[in-house]
Amino acid sequence: MSGPVLTRTVAELRSELTRLVAERDAHSVGLVPTMGALHQGHAALMRAARADAPVVCASLFVNPLQFESPLDLELYPRDLDADMALFGSEGVDLVFAPEVEEMYPSYPDSPIVRVSSGHMGQILEGASRPGHFDGVATVVSKLFNIFDPEGPARLRAYFGQKDAQQLMIVRRLVADLDFPVTIVPVPTQREESGLAMSSRNLLLTESHRQAATALSEALFALRDRAAAGEDWNLAALRRQVRDADEVILDYLEVVDPGTLLPTSRTPALALIAAYVGGVRLIDNIEIPGP
Ligand code: PAF
Repeated sequence: MSGPVLTRTVAELRSELTRLVAERDAHSVGLVPTMGALHQGHAALMRAARADAPVVCASLFVNPLQFESPLDLELYPRDLDADMALFGSEGVDLVFAPEVEEMYPSYPDSPIVRVSSGHMGQILEGASRPGHFDGVATVVSKLFNIFDPEGPARLRAYFGQKDAQQLMIVRRLVADLDFPVTIVPVPTQREESGLAMSSRNLLLTESHRQAATALSEALFALRDRAAAGEDWNLAALRRQVRDADEVILDYLEVVDPGTLLPTSRTPALALIAAYVGGVRLIDNIEIPGP
């Protein structure tokens, strides 16, 4: 079985995409945007795309604009061969893995025009990672333009619910800037321990992996308390996470899923972020309505 076609430039990608869409008379194109370091969470995105779209594409680009720390950018795990193998085994047809200069010709200077994620990009993750969501909004806008299939085919893009704030901002981006793209959310994949799958888990030692389960445990406890009609007792849950060895809690909040502002009503979204062994991890869970 031949693997996915690997393209490095926008011109190559567009020409291969046009060829595949015509060859398959495709009504839609599925896009899975990634930064590589692929895991089963990404595989779930690819499977969702495969189930919907006759042509499945993925991007692999570690976007410097969304890293606020040069060290974090440098340490981000990279393994093209392993990523290409996973793309291949999940039936991805076309991969776009550009060099940084292809995406940002003025690099290391920032592009002059960037996309703002507004106030939604400045709270929660955005408060600790200034500029992060503007970087995401900028690269995702570029990817939507680059992958825009010519003719009647429509672009569908798959995003994990694990990055809940990113998903909300991408949805706003599409609505506010009229991108002709359908956003498809895909549920978070978890390890048996409850730990949400993430590329950053590769940076955890075994003992940090154990410690990191404090995040999902707090979220599950919150959801169960809400389901039982009990007081959420956020303060006690925050204490429980703070008391866990090797875990430095940044935030544990319950927010309105539409605005990301704190709420005491359901349906709601509980969001958590913490450093475990120096690695920033995030997770979230839906708290259903009554
Ligand atoms: O979720 C990610 O991996 C990245 O933020 C994305 C959407 C590929 C943009 O760089």
